[in-house]
Amino acid sequence: MFHRILCNAMVVAGALLGLLATTASGLGSTCSTPLTHGSAAPGAPFWMENIQHQGIAAFNSNPSSYPVFRNVMNYGAKGDGSTDDTAAIQSAINAGGRCGQGCQSTTTQPALVYFPPGTYKISSPLITLYQTQLIGDATTLPTLLAAPNFSGIGLIDVDPYLAGGAQYYTNQNNFFRSVRNFVIDLRQVSGSATGIHWQVSQATSLINIVFEMSTAAGNQHQGIFMENGSGGFLGDLVFNGGNIGATFGNQQFTVRNVTFNNANTAINAIWNWGWTFQRITINNCQVGFSLTQGSTSNTGAQGVGAEAIIDAVVSNTPTFIESSGPSGGHLQGSIVLNNIQLTNVPVAVGVAGGATVLAGGTTTINSWAQGNVYHGTSGSPTFTQGNIGAINKPGVLLDGTGRIVSKSHPQYSGYAPGDFVSVRSQGAKGDGHTDDTQAIKNVLAQYAGCKIIFFDAGTYIVSSTITIPAGTQIVGEVWSQVVGTGSAFQDNNNPQPVIQVGTAGSTGIVEITDMIFTTRGPAAGAIIVEWNVHDPSGQQAAAGAWDTHLIIGGTAQSGLQVAQCPTSGAGGNNCFADFLGLHLTSGSSAYIEGMWVWLADHDLDTGGSQQLSLWSNGGILSESQGPVWLIGTAAEHHINYQYFLNNAANHYIGLAQTETPYFQPNPGPPGPFVTNTNFDPSQLGNGNAWAFTVQNSQNILVFGAGFYSFFNSYATSCQNSQNCQNQIVNVDSGSSVAFYSLTTVDTTFSLSQNAQGVINRSNNPNGFADTITAWTRN
Ligand SMILES: *[C@@H]1O[C@H](CO)[C@@H](O)[C@H](O)[C@H]1NC(C)=O
Ligand SMILES: *[C@@H]1O[C@H](CO)[C@@H](O)[C@H](O)[C@H]1NC(C)=O
Ligand SMILES: *[C@@H]1O[C@H](CO)[C@@H](O)[C@H](O)[C@H]1NC(C)=O
Ligand SMILES: *[C@@H]1O[C@H](CO)[C@@H](O)[C@H](O)[C@H]1NC(C)=O
Repeated sequence: MFHRILCNAMVVAGALLGLLATTASGLGSTCSTPLTHGSAAPGAPFWMENIQHQGIAAFNSNPSSYPVFRNVMNYGAKGDGSTDDTAAIQSAINAGGRCGQGCQSTTTQPALVYFPPGTYKISSPLITLYQTQLIGDATTLPTLLAAPNFSGIGLIDVDPYLAGGAQYYTNQNNFFRSVRNFVIDLRQVSGSATGIHWQVSQATSLINIVFEMSTAAGNQHQGIFMENGSGGFLGDLVFNGGNIGATFGNQQFTVRNVTFNNANTAINAIWNWGWTFQRITINNCQVGFSLTQGSTSNTGAQGVGAEAIIDAVVSNTPTFIESSGPSGGHLQGSIVLNNIQLTNVPVAVGVAGGATVLAGGTTTINSWAQGNVYHGTSGSPTFTQGNIGAINKPGVLLDGTGRIVSKSHPQYSGYAPGDFVSVRSQGAKGDGHTDDTQAIKNVLAQYAGCKIIFFDAGTYIVSSTITIPAGTQIVGEVWSQVVGTGSAFQDNNNPQPVIQVGTAGSTGIVEITDMIFTTRGPAAGAIIVEWNVHDPSGQQAAAGAWDTHLIIGGTAQSGLQVAQCPTSGAGGNNCFADFLGLHLTSGSSAYIEGMWVWLADHDLDTGGSQQLSLWSNGGILSESQGPVWLIGTAAEHHINYQYFLNNAANHYIGLAQTETPYFQPNPGPPGPFVTNTNFDPSQLGNGNAWAFTVQNSQNILVFGAGFYSFFNSYATSCQNSQNCQNQIVNVDSGSSVAFYSLTTVDTTFSLSQNAQGVINRSNNPNGFADTITAWTRN
């Protein structure tokens, strides 16, 4: 609903004359007709179908002829419910020369494959190649209909298997994919059938999909099959029927707002290190979560490690969670439950075929856990299988129903092409070499708040800070890139933002979707995104970003590839990629869903396997007083810290995922950066990068985390002794922060206070990783 109240910054400014000067300074736009609602006629197609299609792949070998946008109708699809459209859709995906079998990765072949309303009959898997988005009309969802003789791993397959078990892509490196706005209907298939084989990693999403499956006894339908990867976000999905709603196996993932109706098993988890489920609804299933494959050793079979479930509603389902039996006296796997409303659910948690662990009924589970619970500076766990102290959730993070705020990726259904303005039409080139700074500034000055600003696919070079005023909505196309480069971004003692979202004190809506913000190196003094804007009063999550990433180095446009920055370190100061990825300043609020702040560890455009030594001081720094929601975020390979909360307050973070640099401790923090105490927790002396460090911050809730360290000086032998680094998470004694479902890999201490190790990982083996089920200060 928030997207219907645009230009609220102006309304606020007008209403509060005393604040006019500061608030209006966040605007910048002089447009006279604020966009207050979409102007699409009833029944009109989705705006995406009919806007001018002029996005380019600037670093493609043939940018002038390579099509970024593809409407499947232009490739022969009929969408009539009877014609087999498989080959036509596949030709739309493949057109232009794409990254398929044997390619591994690319950033130069993006494709947005668009489906108008219709019923597309599919008889074998649609193989979606690397860097592809499949997007249906968001107003009238198209249907992918499995033909009665459908055969294959799924109607959509993002990583096909080849003979002998090989695959198109390495599952942990399968980036840049999204599927949105479909009905996937399996009901004509009498045997087994799967909707989507989703074996993906960071910078991926599934959004707004309805799976229609059989409700007959003994049916063999499942909506999603995911067995590997390092993801990812999915949300706003509905599963109707099926034997299994979704099979989930992946290192880590964030799931928000997913409903399962009438499945046998809603979620069948096969392995993980840690997942967070926010706002799951389960109706009329037999089992909600099947978690029967647990492990309590680091050497046994990979099991279901950690599940953190918040704000679930479950009804008429005999068992909410089916767990695995005891091993060595303990039930297997870590579980955290918070605010689980049960209606007619006799067993809340039970061992498959065995004892009831937690009785259900019609009741609400406040805070319950299974696993090792810690407090304060005690390194001794209490194995707990029962209620834990109520999880502290500041009211500013909750909606009117008491749940963590949830806001879907805005798609502007109901808006017409005329409600958008294209930056290319307004003179920006996006060609990867023209300086587009002034053109972009002009578009924002003229149209912010009056049109949705559309960044046609492309690589837009900017040489000074671009300020996105409060009141702006920005939409990219298969991750349009804005790239800061040049002399403005060189001084790491005085770093400057490439993108500034609002200015100090500004309030208003900001919505940013499907963009990449980054640098072209060297750029030691770049803060890639400085986020200042705050939600207007009463409009939670009005300022946010969805499916927007910071992909830093390792790409054809970046100047930070294997030729410049090999692992020998020979690139020296030319390998400064940025100073800081995302900075949430003290006056800001932010709702950020699906963001990967990635300093490249390998080169995506030279075959996908060559490693890099690049320098970035930090990933995500928050000094915000909140509310901040970081839903499905990740930060990797920054030399000082991945997440740093400094004088921050009122954050919900779930799931947070990190990896530390592969080269550390050669160098360790601060690496080549001059110590800058405003941004730099390296004085804490860990000698390695922090995954997550908290200083003087209050009311911080981390609900699901996966913090990994796989290397020491590029060698993996430290994995054998599980000590690739000594410490990884730090909390000072003045902060109130709570961690639930905190998983670490190959780090001696999983949690430190004042940079002194507190929790030795050896008490918490959980499959490949180690899990602290809960840590609170008191
Ligand atoms: C499914 O049936 C259609 C026609 O009925 C046929 O063209 C197609 O080849 C069949 N596909 C498979 C995988 O058997
Ligand atoms: C993928 O997942 C399957 C099922 O859990 C597992 O057996 C296999 O080892 C995994 N493969 C990789 C490459 O991780
Ligand atoms: C949840 O997803 C459904 C289906 O896409 C959508 O209609 C609903 O608005 C979403 N709710 C929230 C709170 O995000
Ligand atoms: C962690 O615990 C293990 C097992 O008790 C022990 O061998 C090891 O020395 C401990 N590590 C530290 C740094 O205390």
